[in-house]
Formats: sequence, structure tokens, C-alpha cells
Amino acid sequence: KAPVVTIDGPSGSGKGTIAKLLADKLGYALLDSGALYRLTALAALNADVDLADEARLAEIAGNLDIRFAVANGEVAAVLEGKDVSRDIRMERVSMAASKVAAIPAVREALLQRQRDFRSPPGLVADGRDMGTTVFPDAPVKIFLTASAEERAQRRFDQLQRRGVSVSLRDLLEDIRARDDRDMNRTASPLAPAEDAVVLDSTDIGINDVLQKVLDLVHE
Ligand code: CDP
Repeated sequence: KAPVVTIDGPSGSGKGTIAKLLADKLGYALLDSGALYRLTALAALNADVDLADEARLAEIAGNLDIRFAVANGEVAAVLEGKDVSRDIRMERVSMAASKVAAIPAVREALLQRQRDFRSPPGLVADGRDMGTTVFPDAPVKIFLTASAEERAQRRFDQLQRRGVSVSLRDLLEDIRARDDRDMNRTASPLAPAEDAVVLDSTDIGINDVLQKVLDLVHE
């Protein structure tokens, strides 16, 4: 079986950035599992499906017509032939994704699709339950975290650079609400796998985190 490096952690911990840099460095494929939940949410919103209709949502997740296309070093999410990379980052889709991700039948419907990303020479899998549920046999598991304040501050800086004005307090509240939902749901709640290495990035930069992860991969 091809090796997998799992990178799990809460919203804003920097795992998306680390996962991408690591995949580039190792020449591995990349699975952004959050995008699958976002795509399921977008498909449901587009089809006007009630977010309480669990059976219908699981059916949508099981039949998603999606692909990930690489263009200029960026990964585009394509739903039914349309590039929806921007759409899936919209706030209403984020909210819907978080609700949809709490439904066990939806998680089950996406399980095999995620495992299918595993192929030689290897895979970097980014998410919440990569090390616990999707790839329990992964040889290297990372759980990346940072304080809620630091994560809110990072998002704030990022949005400011893009010229979006938001309040730091609102962002912090939003991060806390997401943490709460991620950790307290019954289906695959957010927690490090028993054999995961927990890295706290509150006081260290991206390059140092990347170096630590690379050291673990090469051990
Ligand atoms: O990290 P962020 O909240 O910005 O978003 P994401 O990683 O793209 O994940 C989108 C949603 O899917 C979140 O609400 C996660 O809780 C959920 N998710 C999940 O339940 N399991 C995963 N493996 C990945 C994401």
C-alpha cells in the first residue's frame, strides 16, 4: 500500500498550507477532505435540498460528480464540470459544510472516495479524521493545532491582506463555534489519533512546522 501522511487539526491551524507544501516536497498526491464536505454542501444548496434531510444528503455525497484539476500549481475543485473553487469557500457553504459533516451517513458515503486517493508514490491527507477513521494504518500521523486566539489572528491577517474588513472578535467567536461543533459531534469528532504526533504551531512559523513534519516522515 502507498504511504499516507495524515494531517488533522482544527479550523485555521495551518494544516491546509502544510499539507500542500508537504505534498509538493514529497511529490505525493494531496487530499483536501474538507473540500469534499464543502462540495457536498454546495451540491445540496444548489439542488435546494433541506439540510435536515439526511438520507438525501448522503445520496448526494455518494453520487458527487467532482474532480480536482491542477492548473498553475493550484488545485481547482470542479463540480459537474464547473470550477467551484471560490464558491465552496463562501460563508454560507462553510456553514452548510459543517452541518453536513456532522451526519454519519454522509461521512460513510464519502469514505471510499477518500481512500481512493491513496496511490503511489504516496498521499498527504488533510482533514479532521484522516488519522482516526479514513487512514487508520497511515505510517505518519500529525495533529496540528494552535490556540484559538492565534488561529483567529492568522485568519484576520489573511483577510486584511485581501482587503476584507472583519472584526477579530467575530473571527474568534466563529473559530470557537466551529471547534465546538467539530469536537462535540458524534460522528468522527475531532481528536488526535492515539499514534498521532501533536504539533502546536502557536509560537512557531510555517517553515519550522514543515521541517518538523519532514523530519517525522524521514525518521
Ligand atoms: O478548516 P476549515 O473549517 O476552514 O474547513 P475545511 O477543512 O475545508 O472543512 C470544511 C468542513 O468539513 C468543516 O466544518 C469540517 O468540520 C468538516 N470536515 C470534516 O468533518 N472532516 C474532514 N475530514 C474534513 C472536514
